[in-house]
This record gives sequence, C-alpha cells and structure tokens, in this order.
Amino acid sequence: MGYSDLALMKVEPNSPIAEYLSHIQHASERAADLCSQMLAYSGRGKFVVTSCHLSDLVEEIVHLLRVVIRKEVVLDLLLSKQIPSVKIDLSQIRQVIMNLVINASESMEQNGGLLTIKTGLITAKKNEIKGNYRQKFLSEGDYICLEVTDTGEGMNEKIRKKIFDPFYTTKFAGRGLGLAAVLGIVRGHNGIIQVLSEQGKGSTFKVYLPVENSEDEPDQNDEITRLAENSQATSPGLILVVDDEEENRSVFSKMLNSAGYEVILASDGLQALKIFNKEHSGIQAVLLDLTLPQMSGNQVFKEMKKINPNTRIVLTSGFDEQEVSNLFNETDFAGFIQKPFTTSNLINEFNKILE
Ligand SMILES: Nc1ncnc2c1ncn2[C@@H]1O[C@H](COP(=O)(O)OP(=O)(O)OP(=O)(O)O)[C@@H](O)[C@H]1O
Ligand SMILES: [Mg+2]
Repeated sequence: MGYSDLALMKVEPNSPIAEYLSHIQHASERAADLCSQMLAYSGRGKFVVTSCHLSDLVEEIVHLLRVVIRKEVVLDLLLSKQIPSVKIDLSQIRQVIMNLVINASESMEQNGGLLTIKTGLITAKKNEIKGNYRQKFLSEGDYICLEVTDTGEGMNEKIRKKIFDPFYTTKFAGRGLGLAAVLGIVRGHNGIIQVLSEQGKGSTFKVYLPVENSEDEPDQNDEITRLAENSQATSPGLILVVDDEEENRSVFSKMLNSAGYEVILASDGLQALKIFNKEHSGIQAVLLDLTLPQMSGNQVFKEMKKINPNTRIVLTSGFDEQEVSNLFNETDFAGFIQKPFTTSNLINEFNKILE
C-alpha cells in the first residue's frame, strides 16, 4: 500500500499508469481490510485490553459512522451515561460497531430509514439470556448491552441461520465476513450476540459484554487471559516443521518463534528424515503435515518413530482429528491440530505435550 502511494506521487495524474496504480492501491486496501476481518474471526488479532465506557466509544466514532451510512438513513443515538466501564479491545469493538452499522445501513439502501444505536446495563439471571450462535446462555451477572437497530429489509429464518458463517452473503459486492468477524470478537470478549429480525420488519443486533469487576483478577477461564498465556512456550526448545507449502512453513515458524521456540524447516519427507536422522537428539518435537508429496506424512511418521520411538510428533492437516486417527494408532501421535489454526492453538498444543 505504501509503495503504490509513493508511486502515485511520482506519476503524472493524467497518465494511464496513475489509474492502474490507484486500482492496485484500492485492491491492497481491500486485502488489508479482509485480513483484519479474518484475524478477528479467528481470534488471532492482537488483543489489547483497556477499560472503557462503551457510550463514550460510540460517541468517539460517530463521525466515522456518519461517513459510512447513507444519506437517506437517520442516525439516532440512545447512549446511557450510567453504565459502568468494560474491559475491551478498543479497536476490535470499534470494528464490531462499524460492521453492524454498515450492515444496518445497507439493509435500508432502498428507502432509507432509522438506524438506532443504544447502550445500556443489563443484569442477567441464570439461563435467562440466550445467544443466537450455538444457543449459549449468559452466566449470571452484569452486562453492557450494545444494540444496533434498523428499519430495513430484515431477514427470514433461512438467512438468519447462516449470517455468521464466514463468506455467507446475500449482497452483490459483499464478502460475508462482517458478521463472522463480529462473532469472533464478541466470543473473544466472553460475550454473546442476539439477533432479532423479521423479513420486511428490520433487524436488531444485541451484543452483551461482561462488566469488568475491578476487584477480581481475571479468572483462569477467562478467554482473554488464556489467549495471552498460550502465546508463550512453557518449555522452549527446537521444533522441526515439515510442510510442503512455503507459505505454511513461513507462517508456522513465525508463530513458533514468537512464542520462544526455535525452528528447523523441511519441505518434504526425505529432507525431514535427513535432518531428523542427524539432529533427533536436539529436536524437542515435530510438527508434521500429513499431505506431503512423494513420501506421505504417514510414512515419514513411521520412519521417525523407528529412529527415535520417543519422538513427540504433532500431526497437522486440513482433515479433522477423526479422519486422522483412522490412519494412526491413537497412542502413537502426541497431538493433532487441524488447519487452519491460530498461534494460540498451535502453542497450546506444544505446551500440552512438552509439559
Ligand atoms: N441489519 C441487517 N439487515 C438485514 N440483513 C442483514 C443485516 N445484517 C446482516 N444481514 C445479512 O447477513 C449477511 C451476512 O452479513 P455480513 O456482514 O457477514 O456480510 P456482508 O455484509 O454480506 O458482507 P461484508 O460485511 O463482508 O461486506 C448479509 O449478506 C445479509 O444478508
Ligand atoms: Mg457486512
């Protein structure tokens, strides 16, 4: 993005090259945006938790919201000043608000309408408030509720069931990642999301976020804490990564390095075995892709076990664990991780087996 920007400054504004460059720039902006939505969905985005008053946050970004909503749409804010603060990742919750508001505005494309953003405090009893995704109940306690309501086209039951699926869209130019990202972020904050909508009658999206309790340290089950804990190796050492795709090797080694592991890479089975033969005493564990060309992951696995029966091998593949355990004797492999995975998934897997 930076380079297309620089190049644009160097060319004549009327030249065809300027036009091409601006297309490149536009495409890379969309790609960057796409990446951030996908990171949010996978829970892999950076998580920076700050204490914040949600009504203030909405007020802060109102000017941005007015830019993205259409002229025919009237924006109404019902922001409670009485609500306590919540511990959230500001940029992620901003993204939640933006995505919900853009959807609401797009649903009123035809005739315009009213878009309301409301904040409030809700005390939930046990098994009282149920989320729409996987029907999870809120546990007892205080929650900040953020509501985005529109008077747009609404959704029927069939659409409503699919809206959180990544890449599900009913729009011509939509990508279907907006709500997938919203869901990922809300879950990362231990919150839930409710959707009320009827065809032709508009929609309301309600996001519930747990209120911070300043006296308590975050408890062990807190997903935010777990994400942070999982990002560091508990017993750092050398890991052999075997994968035929260069992109994967590069990403996996960055993930492991970031947690404090050292990494050796192999791009196929033969290379992996050559390295393993020489270095196995220094290799703490192996991350082995199952679908390798020539020599299959399965064969590599067996050969490594022959060289050193105590080697801890974590298998990875696009298939799920069930399919993989059909191929292997379950006690043989130390762990399994299905692609695509997040850094904390990966580190967690190695931390588990290297304890
Ligand atoms: N407020 C709403 N009113 C009506 N339909 C909605 C609303 N919000 C979401 N939807 C439906 O849910 C689908 C998925 O929404 P999502 O935000 O995930 O993707 P998108 O808006 O289609 O594309 P993107 O956000 O990636 O540009 C939409 O295509 C639309 O059918
Ligand atoms: Mg959207």
